[in-house]
Amino acid sequence: MAFKRKKITVIGAGFVGSTCAHWAAAKELGDVVLLDINEGAAKGKSLDLYEAAPVEQFDAKVTGTADYKDIADSDVVIMTAGIPRKPGMSRDDLLSTNAKIMKEACEGIKKYAPNCVLIVVSNPLDAMAYVAKQVTGFPRERVLGMAGVLDTARFRAFISEELNVSVKDVQAIVLGGHGDTMVPMPRHCSVGGVPLMEMMEPAKLEALIQRTRAGGAEIVNLLKTGSAYYAPSASAVQMAEAILKDQNRILPCAVELNGEYGVKGFFVGVLCKLNGKGLDKVIELKLNDAEKAMLNNSVKAVEDLVGALKNIQY
Ligand code: NAI
Ligand code: 2OP
Repeated sequence: MAFKRKKITVIGAGFVGSTCAHWAAAKELGDVVLLDINEGAAKGKSLDLYEAAPVEQFDAKVTGTADYKDIADSDVVIMTAGIPRKPGMSRDDLLSTNAKIMKEACEGIKKYAPNCVLIVVSNPLDAMAYVAKQVTGFPRERVLGMAGVLDTARFRAFISEELNVSVKDVQAIVLGGHGDTMVPMPRHCSVGGVPLMEMMEPAKLEALIQRTRAGGAEIVNLLKTGSAYYAPSASAVQMAEAILKDQNRILPCAVELNGEYGVKGFFVGVLCKLNGKGLDKVIELKLNDAEKAMLNNSVKAVEDLVGALKNIQY
C-alpha cells in the first residue's frame, strides 16, 4: 500500500513562516512547502532547512515556491504572509495592507488546496481570519486563528518563572481577541492541578496578566524591527499537529462563533477541541459577571476592527 505523507504549506517565508517550517519539519509532521512572493527567500530558506535534515535526523521534504500550484492538496495551510508591527504600531495598523495580502493568498488556497484546514496567523488576527473565511468560503471548522495558544503560552511562561515551577505543570486559558483586550482567565488556571489563585498573591497575578496582555509589544519594543516569531510559530505548529495527528487537543483558538457567548459571525478566541476535522467543537466556559464584561469588551474591539474592513478596498 502506498504511504502518503501529510502535506503542510506555510505561506510567508518571513520570520514566523520560516520558523513554522522549521518546527513542522523537525517534528516530521509531513512534507513542507514554503510559499512567498519573494521566491528566492522561499527557495533559499527551504533548501537550507532541508540540508539540516541529515544533522537533525528528520524525514521531511522542504520545498520553496512562489507558485500556488505547488500547494495542491495540502492538508494544513498556515498563513503567515503580511507585514509585522514596528514599535509604536498596533496590530490594527496592519489592517489594510494585510487584508489585501490575505485575499490574494486565500484565492490561491481556495483554488489549489480546497480541502485544507487553514490556520491564520497574520495580524490583525481576528480580522484576518474573518477575511480568510469570507474569501475561501470554507466551513468554520476549517478556518482557525492562532492567538490563544501564544497568549496562553506567554501567561504560562510568566507564571512558571514567578513560581519557579516547570512550565509543563502550568495550565492556563486566555480568551477573547488577540489584542490589548484579551481576557486571561486566572480562575481557570492551575499549577500541578492546584488553582493558580491559591498559589499567587492577587497583585502579582494582576501584574502577570498585564504583562501577558502586552506580551507582543514587549517583544516588538526589544526587537525594534519586527515582532515575535519563535513562540508564535511553535503555537501555530501545535495547532497543525493536533489536526494532522487527529489528537482531540483542547486549545484556545480564534474561531467564528455561532451563538457561543452570545456572539455570531465574528472570530473570537475561545477554548476549542481540535482534531482531524479542524475545529471539532467549542467548549463554552461558565463565566462570572466580571469575566463576561471583559469578554464583551474584547468582542466589541473585534467587531470594530471587522467594521473597519468595510472602509478598505481589498
Ligand atoms: P515577516 O515580514 O518576517 O514575513 C512576512 C512575509 O510575508 C515576508 O517574507 C513577505 O515577503 C511575505 N509576503 C508579503 N506579501 C506576500 C504575498 N502577497 N504573498 C506571499 N507572501 C507575502 O513577518 P513575520 O514576523 O513573519 O510576521 C508575519 C505576520 O504574522 C505579521 O502580520 C505579524 O503581525 C503576524 N503575527 C501574528 C501573531 C499571532 O499571534 N497571530 C504572532 C506573530 C506574528
Ligand atoms: C504577538 O503577539 C505580534 O501578534 C504578535 O507577538
